Amino acid sequence: MEDLRNKVAVITGGASGFGRAFALRGAALGMKLVLADINQDALDAVVAELKAAGADVIGRRTDVSQSADVQALADAAIAAYGEVNLLFNNAGVAPGGLVWERSEQDWNWALGVNLHGVLHGVRIFTPLMLAAAAKAPSYRGHIVNTASVAGLTTAPTLGPYCVAKHAVVALSESLHHDLGLVSEQVHCSVLCPGFVATGISRSDRNLPTDDDAQVAPSRAQLAAKAMLDQGIAGSAISADDVARITFDGIRDRRFYLLPHPASMEAVGQRFDDILNLRNPTGPFAQRPQIRETLMATLRGA
Ligand SMILES: NC(=O)c1ccc[n+]([C@@H]2O[C@H](COP(=O)([O-])OP(=O)(O)OC[C@H]3O[C@@H](n4cnc5c(N)ncnc54)[C@H](O)[C@@H]3O)[C@@H](O)[C@H]2O)c1
Repeated sequence: MEDLRNKVAVITGGASGFGRAFALRGAALGMKLVLADINQDALDAVVAELKAAGADVIGRRTDVSQSADVQALADAAIAAYGEVNLLFNNAGVAPGGLVWERSEQDWNWALGVNLHGVLHGVRIFTPLMLAAAAKAPSYRGHIVNTASVAGLTTAPTLGPYCVAKHAVVALSESLHHDLGLVSEQVHCSVLCPGFVATGISRSDRNLPTDDDAQVAPSRAQLAAKAMLDQGIAGSAISADDVARITFDGIRDRRFYLLPHPASMEAVGQRFDDILNLRNPTGPFAQRPQIRETLMATLRGA
């Protein structure tokens, strides 16, 4: 898709991090924007920021894990702008902890936002895009699903996140295959970044609260948050860089968007392990002291 002026973008998780950066870039390219987020105050602030800069934008509070909310988002986008050209299924949360210690509610939250949120977006918006394509040969549509390097590799203390993000990669590859059967006008990409400074390590701010069920974070959860904070602090690229790389990928119709070239090594290592029937190497092979510190923390040493 070359010229995005006056085209329409829907962005979930639009109130922070990558979502806000997609919105700023879309606005700079003259796009009309529909921002969705569960956090009303943060959403209002970004919508006001964009309007002050002259953008044509609406915001809609949406919990992407709820299909009725995503349907209402699609209805609002069509009512405001008539069609949707870009969909960023981007909202996400990163709960840490050992696989067996997170509660059923926490797993439902992680999979509800990170996987079902993307699935609702694909299920509800793809038919709208295909209908617009059938009506107008000049129509172009593109869906970007935000997964993560954690969708191509795995890491300790991040099980719910890795499970959801691997599923988002599989969902996106399936969408790519299926779209290719029916249309030349609608395409998709999967975005797999490594660490970038955003609000992601503070995801628990969006954890649905049930006062009776509140428990103090475990050692593993605290260790996972410390790892995320450290990774983010050392990030070589910004959310703006990720937005630029993503829009370039849409223009060039590239499916795999990996803004961190260094992460290719870990991806290659995982596939090598599988092809050679080796047990998973894990992300700390080159930095064993991180694993040792983690083990000591978990064992209370
Ligand atoms: N920052 C990183 O290092 C990194 C790396 C790889 C992938 N990602 C992915 O990027 C995406 C964007 O995250 P970010 O890094 O910008 O973090 P962020 O926390 O800054 O932004 C995420 C946004 O999603 C919103 N959100 C959370 N739950 C929601 C829900 N149920 N419905 C609607 N909105 C909801 C939050 O309010 C927030 O505005 C996520 O899918 C995340 O997993 C981030």
